[in-house]
Formats: sequence, C-alpha cells, structure tokens
Amino acid sequence: MRVLITGAGGQVGYELSRLAPAEFEVLGLDSAALDITDLGQVQSAVAWIQPGLIINAAAYTAVDKAESDAERAWAVNQDGVANLATAAKGLEIPVLHISTDYVFAGDADTPYSETDPTGPTGVYGASKLAGENALAAACSRYLVLRTSWVFGAHGNNFVKTMLRLGNERDSLSVVADQQGGPTSAVSIATALWKLAEMYRIRQELPRGVYHFSGTPYCSWFEFAEEIFRQAESLGQVQQCPQLSAITTADYPTPAKRPAWSVMDCSKLEKASGIVPPCWKEDLRDVLIELSKR
Ligand SMILES: NC(=O)c1ccc[n+]([C@@H]2O[C@H](COP(=O)([O-])OP(=O)(O)OC[C@H]3O[C@@H](n4cnc5c(N)ncnc54)[C@H](OP(=O)(O)O)[C@@H]3O)[C@@H](O)[C@H]2O)c1
Repeated sequence: MRVLITGAGGQVGYELSRLAPAEFEVLGLDSAALDITDLGQVQSAVAWIQPGLIINAAAYTAVDKAESDAERAWAVNQDGVANLATAAKGLEIPVLHISTDYVFAGDADTPYSETDPTGPTGVYGASKLAGENALAAACSRYLVLRTSWVFGAHGNNFVKTMLRLGNERDSLSVVADQQGGPTSAVSIATALWKLAEMYRIRQELPRGVYHFSGTPYCSWFEFAEEIFRQAESLGQVQQCPQLSAITTADYPTPAKRPAWSVMDCSKLEKASGIVPPCWKEDLRDVLIELSKR
C-alpha cells in the first residue's frame, strides 16, 4: 500500500517516515514539497502518487504565534485539512489525521473523553478543532488521533528547550499548574502505523476521534524534573539547574493554555489494542538518541 505523509519534516512526520513498516511504500513530503493550503498542489500530488492512505502530520503548531498569525493558522489547520479531505474523497481513500488536547477548555478534573464538549482557549486549538470538523464533513473514512505535549529527538520541543536552558542557566522556573500527558513522536508514529496496518489488512479503520497520550499525566514542572533526573543519570548534564515551580499567572503567554489537558485513551485501546505509552521510558530513548548526535 502506498502512503502519502504530509508535514514529513516535523516531529511526527519525520518519525512516520523513519519508522514506516516494509509493507508500505511511503512518500513523505515536507512543507517545501507540498503545501497543504494549496488545493491545486494537493490534488496534483495525490493524482501523481495515487496513495491508498494519507497520513497528515502537517500543522501550524506555533501556539503563541497563532494568536497574531491567525489567518495562517486557520489556513493550515482548517483549510489544509479540508484540501486533503477533498483529495482523499476523490480517490475514496481514508485520512489519518493528528489533532490536539488544546481543543478542550482545560477546566475539567477528570480525563477528557472523545464525547466531552470541546472549548478551545486559543487560535491554535480552535483552528485544529475546525480541521477535525472539516475532515469529518468531507470524508466518510477518517481517523483523528488527538495527542498532547509532543517530544522527540527531531524538531523543537519542551525536552530540547529544557536541556538547552539547563546548560545556559543555574535556575529555571517551570509552570506547575498545567497537567497533561507528554507523548513521544515515536509513540505517535508507531500508533499511526498500527492503525495503517489494521487498514491494510482489513480495508477498514476505526472511524472518528480517538485520544492517545503518554501516561502517567504530570505537570510541566514534573516533566522538567524527570528530564533533568534522567539527563543527569545518563551523564548528559554536568549539573542540574535549580527548578522552581511557578503558576500560569507567573508566566503570561499570548495564548491561554488549558490547565487540564489529561485525556482518557481507553476508546483507542478498545478499538485497536493500542495502549497509552509510558512517557518516562520514551524520554529515556529520546535522551539516548540525542546523546548520539
Ligand atoms: N507539538 C505538540 O506539542 C503537539 C501537541 C498536540 C498535538 N500536536 C499535533 O501533532 C501533529 C504533529 O505535530 P508536530 O509536533 O510534529 O509539529 P511540527 O514539528 O511543528 O511539524 C509540523 C510540520 O507541518 C509542516 N507544515 C506547516 N504548514 C504546512 C503546510 N501549509 N503544508 C505542509 N506542511 C506544513 C511544518 O513545516 P515547516 O516547519 O516547514 O512550516 C512542520 O514540518 C500536529 O497535527 C499537531 O497539531 C502537536
């Protein structure tokens, strides 16, 4: 089966291309090779590649920048997804799409299920939610995998930021009142390939929205503590910086972030057997990978 991966230069897109099982013939296109906001480009690429499946890892992911660059965020996260959906509908093929915990308001105190009401607090979350809806409206066969707090050896993320700042400063302040599930790009790519494999074998996909994020949930502060604990034990930092827990109010950002980003992933597990990954184990793999570079 031929698979088109969009956004192949990003954290998840890179791992999707790298981890593609041998049963699939994969064409990973980065933003320079295929701009999903251009319907003509999308239709030409799909007509030329003739994929049996599209995995969309392309997105506008700059959460704060989106507040002042809303037009572009909506163009990529809503219109780009609609373009892929239109092209997929033409070939009658499914789309595997990635979305985010930021579609929720974050004012809950139990894990969000797929049927809970959404209520994004910023442009990024609102545009990603609109992308989910555009896909559902245009495509009868699609799966949206909502994930959270993505990290990996490739691309920009919280783990790499912490390691860089830890080398530059003696102390760091990290937000401790936002809770979520850190999820490695490798785990997301592996889950998507399992779903693609289900589709290849059965010609059927679980349909609709599914949650997939790392376990156990934690705060950004606890995530940072674990990053430095593991980095120190692997000899990657000379000395851990002093970490202080601060509140969201102490660290104002252009986009308001959900305080509670924890998602219930049991629907995906029931439908596919895919279990939430342990982010601490995945973090170790990422740190080891980074130390090789
Ligand atoms: N990062 C997170 O913490 C996080 C959390 C929850 C959900 N997600 C979701 O997970 C998915 C993958 O995110 P990620 O972390 O891999 O993001 P990423 O590293 O920012 O990758 C996104 C990729 O999309 C590309 N892109 C942007 N605009 C495009 C366009 N018009 N056409 C084609 N490609 C375009 C970007 O290319 P350029 O760099 O060249 O613009 C980038 O390579 C996204 O759907 C994201 O919303 C991410």
